Amino acid sequence: MRGWFRVIRRRHCISHRFMAIPLPVKLDRLLAKHDAMGRNQARQRVVDRRVSVDGHVVVRHDLEVDRFSRVELDGVLIRPAQRLLHLMIHKPVGVVSATTDSEHRTVIDLIDDPDKESLHLVGRLDRNTSGLILLTNDGRWSKLLMDPARKVPKVYLVETRDPIPPAAVAEFACGFYFHTEDLTTLPAELEILSDRQARLTLYEGRYHQVKRMFHRIGNRVTALHRERIGGIILPVDMSPGAWRHLTEQEIANTIESTTEDRQSQSL
Ligand code: URA
Repeated sequence: MRGWFRVIRRRHCISHRFMAIPLPVKLDRLLAKHDAMGRNQARQRVVDRRVSVDGHVVVRHDLEVDRFSRVELDGVLIRPAQRLLHLMIHKPVGVVSATTDSEHRTVIDLIDDPDKESLHLVGRLDRNTSGLILLTNDGRWSKLLMDPARKVPKVYLVETRDPIPPAAVAEFACGFYFHTEDLTTLPAELEILSDRQARLTLYEGRYHQVKRMFHRIGNRVTALHRERIGGIILPVDMSPGAWRHLTEQEIANTIESTTEDRQSQSL
């Protein structure tokens, strides 16, 4: 029990460290800092239409810009925009969901993007779990997906040691009380696919949650694979270890579907 507490606390700290959201800064402040001029002088340059952000001339000196904004003064680049990255990877069994690890290969080791050091993980999977992991350097996007209030669905394929009884569906829907954290899990949807295989949808992400839930019904998970997070589905033809950038549509879908899911749950 005490060991679990320690692990939960450590994981919590790690995810906070990598989810740091870069603070936006007001445009006049950025200009003033860049050219060592006063704020008033910086504002005047904006009023004089000498400043552009992401290719558009701006007139508001209090516009907030962040590290993903490209800022130019008199057509000269004063701050390049950092690439905004949203990736999916098919995590193979045996690889750890971390940015660094002294012992095992990490999901970051499988990615060959030049800016991969800027990435953080949006949620994790156990080393012996396979499937969809999202990575990004966009702290606002990951915060949205990880926000417990949004109840973003995560869908898993589960294989078990023993047959799954039909009564398990109601048990998963009622939730299980976890003494360690003193909480009851949110209603989860269990769809029994065959004797020892099920699809499980969770609306939260707790430590070893799927394994612990099956343990509570006296069963054991022998294989676990994540198929979906919010509106993002791991393509069935994507091989373990493969990764790719998300499409604009997928990024938009994540946010829309999390909002829709939340709305339909509150009906
Ligand atoms: N639940 C688990 O038990 N393990 C995972 O990797 C993900 C969810």
